[in-house]
Amino acid sequence: MIKPDAVKAGHIGAILNQITENGFRIKAMKLTQLTLADAKKFYEIHQERPFYGELTEFMSSGPIVAAILEKDNAVEDFRKLIGSTNPAEAEEGTIRKKFATSVGENAVHGSDSDENAKIEADFHFAGREVFG
Ligand code: CMP
Repeated sequence: MIKPDAVKAGHIGAILNQITENGFRIKAMKLTQLTLADAKKFYEIHQERPFYGELTEFMSSGPIVAAILEKDNAVEDFRKLIGSTNPAEAEEGTIRKKFATSVGENAVHGSDSDENAKIEADFHFAGREVFG
């Protein structure tokens, strides 16, 4: 996902460009907005964390871009490309270093495993919205 902070700041194009230039292929994509209930469901793994309320309110506060990306070793390579959760700790040149403003408003989300990537893809997209 490109998160509400980065969409609002007009960074959709720059972020997608960096993603595709790094060898990721877009299999599905849409501009959409999560309801608070959607965000709570998407991030339910974090429901015991102190930041769950802040996270889910922020993620439902404005439009996001959801996408399914394909590449060999995609999960690990995408996490390298986006950088650390906290942009202050993200490496130079990473998407979060360039576009994130805080640990909460950190521009992008990437799946943390192939298993979760499948769950998150199914959360956002119907089968007919996903291309080979
Ligand atoms: P994301 O990759 O979307 O997965 C969970 C999100 O929780 C994470 O990025 C951060 O944006 C958010 N997060 C993690 N720690 C904090 C925190 N201390 N305060 C607010 N949000 C946080």
